[in-house]
Amino acid sequence: MVLKPEIIAGNIAAMSAFCQNANVLLAPHAKTAMSPEITALQMDAGAWAMTAATPHQVRVLHAFGVQRILLANVLVDLPAIAWVRDHVLSDPSKDFLCYVDSLAGLERLENALAGSGHQRLGVLIELGYRRGRTGCRTIDEALTLARAVSRSDAVWLAGIAGFEGLIRGSSENAPISEVDAFLDHMHDCLVALHDDGLFPVEPPIVSAGGSSHFQRVVEKLGPTAFPLAVRTVLRSGCYVSHDHGLYAETSPLSWSLTNPTGLRAALELLCSVWSRPEPDLIIAGFGRRDAPTDDRMPVVLRNHSAPQSDDMAGYEVVGVNDQHAFIRVPAHSLVGVGDVLGLGVSHPCGAFDRWRFLPLVTPDYDVVGGVTTYL
Ligand SMILES: Cc1ncc(COP(=O)(O)O)c(C=O)c1O
Repeated sequence: MVLKPEIIAGNIAAMSAFCQNANVLLAPHAKTAMSPEITALQMDAGAWAMTAATPHQVRVLHAFGVQRILLANVLVDLPAIAWVRDHVLSDPSKDFLCYVDSLAGLERLENALAGSGHQRLGVLIELGYRRGRTGCRTIDEALTLARAVSRSDAVWLAGIAGFEGLIRGSSENAPISEVDAFLDHMHDCLVALHDDGLFPVEPPIVSAGGSSHFQRVVEKLGPTAFPLAVRTVLRSGCYVSHDHGLYAETSPLSWSLTNPTGLRAALELLCSVWSRPEPDLIIAGFGRRDAPTDDRMPVVLRNHSAPQSDDMAGYEVVGVNDQHAFIRVPAHSLVGVGDVLGLGVSHPCGAFDRWRFLPLVTPDYDVVGGVTTYL
């Protein structure tokens, strides 16, 4: 799996320009790559914070030297709360936010933080939706929880958060209307909490946005969408490498002839053809150990050994074992044993998961460096 540094740099620049134009803050989700080299590029480009999904990722980002970490999740494990208390809240130069979605979770935070004498922990009330993951389901629940937070000596209410990226919808056109409905619900919740005087520090934070619907988030939860001042924080992660599948289809900022500075896929999987045991079947040297297949199979982009010889449209990865791929090819195609193929992948997180080191290559595939991952 190789990475193209000029594309990574272009994607980071495109997203940072998008956020600046929209007047929103970006806390890139670091879980995509968990790479100190990529994190440094994102911080240099003006990221407001880095986002983590788990206490483990919080510790890794802390070790990368990140000053402000947003844990886009609830924090309920007592050893993890104690670690945050002793390593982050004790240090005035560090900033940390996490979610709460229940009185039980709040009580655990309060018990673990009581009497520490450190700065108070900033929390965002998480909103969810029916059959979704964590998060208060109703504005009444959020209000009850926010009132309890406002009475606490250990935590303070910094804002609200939610995640629209997993709303798949019940029919082809449903996702966008269901995403919009959830974002409207978040909007109303923020206004209700504000009207109740529950935010001790203005402007409150409203955070949502993966890499598929951040345009909708800006429209529905951006600074111009509210009758009060807000700080809108996007948490997009996969934009950084983009892909040849899910995000190529869903990102509002994908490269196109009309958007030449848009996001492009920076990952490419290289493999050789091991065998052509049947005229329309090749067996190639990669498998599910090397590339994600959870969203869809990788797509063959090019034959590096015979760039002009074939139209790749007829190639289809139809199966993978641990280390083998089954690729259907047109029976008349010229592909041969030993040819090197380049493939695009879908869902970048699964690609970075599988590699501790990814070479950085020039457009001519000379290796000019590398990035490491800590997943
Ligand atoms: C809570 C949360 N925020 C942000 C993101 C980032 O979204 P994406 O992976 O589409 O960039 C995710 C991804 O799963 C997430 O779970």
